[in-house]
Amino acid sequence: MGGDCLHIVLQNPKSMVACTCFGLRMGDILRLMVLNLKSIYNIQRGGVLVEYKKLVDDYTSMPGGLIEAFHAIQNEHGYLPEAAINEAAEAFKISAAEAYGVATFYSMFSVKPRGKYVIRICRSAPCHVEGAQEVIAALEQELGICMGGTSNDGLFSLEFTECVGQCQERPVITINGEPYAGVTPGDVPGILNEIRNK
Ligand code: FES
Repeated sequence: MGGDCLHIVLQNPKSMVACTCFGLRMGDILRLMVLNLKSIYNIQRGGVLVEYKKLVDDYTSMPGGLIEAFHAIQNEHGYLPEAAINEAAEAFKISAAEAYGVATFYSMFSVKPRGKYVIRICRSAPCHVEGAQEVIAALEQELGICMGGTSNDGLFSLEFTECVGQCQERPVITINGEPYAGVTPGDVPGILNEIRNK
């Protein structure tokens, strides 16, 4: 009776009144709903952990495999979730602290959720002297965020990068790895709109 009743309530909250007529008190119904949501959460979480393990296991026998595994996880999820780092630590037989140290040492990895498009601004000296700071100011103003932040719509994150080897036209930004060279503050709104309209 309880499971059926819960099913009915989840589909149509107004039916809660009918369930109370079957002898279930409101508290029982709410408890059943919480238990059901917890089990859904655990099933989904289990699925995600299996997925992390699968991604990591492909690299455990490879030299430098941890870095490659982190790249694979980040390509899939946009960042390195804590559970994935723990999974990697277990697979590579190192401590979680060591795995976390690697994840946070390299600027190309992020342990925080990021936007769909990661904009990186080169902060190496040649780009810096050619106006990278002004481009940063324009990006921050257009997106309403500071460097290191993610826009409210979840589309853009702003990060720094070192030289990306495109120094012939400066300053340089990359968007999900694609370089945009010789960017001026005036180019910023157009570049962002181009990405938004993709
Ligand atoms: S210094 Fe900025 S791309 Fe090389």
